[in-house]
Amino acid sequence: MLPMYPAITLKNISKTFGTVKALKHVSLNIEQFSFHALMGENGAGKSTIAKCLMGFYKAEEGEILLGGKEISISNPKDAHKSGIGMVYQHFMLVDNMTVAENLIIARDTIPALLNWRKEKNELEEFMKEMPFQLNLKAFVRDLSAGEKQKLEILKMLYLKCKILILDEPTSVLTPGEADEVLSFLKNLVDRKLLTVIIISHKFREIFGYADAVSVLRKGKYAGGGKVSDFSKAELAELMLGNKVKERNQVRNSQLEAPVKLQLKKIFNEEEAGIPIIDKLSLSVKKGEIYGVAGVSGNGQKRLVEILSGQVKANSGKILIDGREYNPVRKSMKKEQFHCLPEEPMKNACVPEMSVAENMALRYYDHNPFQSKGVVKTKVINRKAEDLIRDFNVKTPTPGTPIKALSGGNVQRAILARELSSEVEILVISNPCFGLDFNAIADIRALIMQVRNRGAAVLLLSEDLDEIIELSDRIGVIFNGSIIYETPVEELSMSILGEKMAGH
Ligand SMILES: Nc1ncnc2c1ncn2[C@@H]1O[C@H](COP(=O)(O)OP(=O)(O)OP(=O)(O)O)[C@@H](O)[C@H]1O
Ligand SMILES: [Mg+2]
Repeated sequence: MLPMYPAITLKNISKTFGTVKALKHVSLNIEQFSFHALMGENGAGKSTIAKCLMGFYKAEEGEILLGGKEISISNPKDAHKSGIGMVYQHFMLVDNMTVAENLIIARDTIPALLNWRKEKNELEEFMKEMPFQLNLKAFVRDLSAGEKQKLEILKMLYLKCKILILDEPTSVLTPGEADEVLSFLKNLVDRKLLTVIIISHKFREIFGYADAVSVLRKGKYAGGGKVSDFSKAELAELMLGNKVKERNQVRNSQLEAPVKLQLKKIFNEEEAGIPIIDKLSLSVKKGEIYGVAGVSGNGQKRLVEILSGQVKANSGKILIDGREYNPVRKSMKKEQFHCLPEEPMKNACVPEMSVAENMALRYYDHNPFQSKGVVKTKVINRKAEDLIRDFNVKTPTPGTPIKALSGGNVQRAILARELSSEVEILVISNPCFGLDFNAIADIRALIMQVRNRGAAVLLLSEDLDEIIELSDRIGVIFNGSIIYETPVEELSMSILGEKMAGH
């Protein structure tokens, strides 16, 4: 007999943060064993709902019912006890522990003395049942974003949760990986083993997997029902009201341009002697977007770390305009070299600092933002106000800590910082991770503008659609090398797929 875990009902939920009303009298119903999508623009309140269900936030008004009975969830432990688990928008993993250790410490109760051999056997058995495999001994810090996301999902399945909330789980996965994960979840739902609440901006996934949908708009329930009753346009309109934008990328034709950025046989190895970047060579011309396509975990993360100066290559050269280049803060500024890593909350900002301060991180120690070593807050705030307006960042004030912003708005704020000054070279990794479709269109247009103004752009993305839409030339990264290159006009999808799989 399967234990019966009833559906969730939200009744009249309101949640306020300071002056921001994140949720306004939201009522919605999640049926048992359904695959329920939660949609809405960046900042609509989706994550806030999820965090109320998990007991991270306490709604100041309203009730949560589990199987028709009101329950009180004061913390994630309570939620787990009720069989509710969540995969968050930002990773919740311990970098310096292994995959196995991360799974074990996820449990609410851990015996004082662990029988490691027994645990290990159990974990191996568990892993065999799973739709994707991770090396239990690998350290989380060495996993790519895609692999981390897989671990987050495995963690919840390992905790045997019955209602799984996923906050944009596929943003860092390739379409193939996303299908793998979603089919696996769908299968559990169809077998009446799991109820899934999935927050997603991707229509392909909603229409492919979800059976029900609820849409939020500016903190209010805007509508919903059976997915099959909606068209894409109808859902988009529910999300945005009437202001759905259609945009086409304007790509200036490319003249014969000189090579701007060149990587020559870059090599970087792990302690074990296994290369992560293996004699990687590529070149990017002025006014060109060079897209690096590849399955996550093939060296993309390390390549960005090398280009941004966080990790030193063991050998090989980086050249700018034919001259050797050393990525330190000073030379990056001189060359107008901008580098945007993925997971900006972790890699590109200081969560406790304000939006304005984060936007000023690149220039706070220069005039006119400082005078005799004293940072001029007023000037920094004024500059931030301009950027917030131009880049459409939704924040209560420039002084709000950046960690209080919704995922998509953190991304916009960081992009505003990097793209607002002169850019000669831009290295950018998964720039649209977690953004809603209007934001994606905005960000892609910005990248195209930077290209059209003559910058050399190296775009690393696990989203093939993005690579194809933006790139002039595409290179495939596999096991730390570029193994194939093609101009986008001559692209064959089947060859690209084969190369990405390493054939
Ligand atoms: N801890 C917090 N402190 C202050 N404001 C917050 C906090 N968490 C969320 N907010 C605000 O509440 C609103 C809803 O945010 P939420 O994160 O729920 O949006 P979202 O729909 O998940 O957006 P996204 O698609 O960008 O992830 C936003 O305006 C956000 O700035
Ligand atoms: Mg969110």
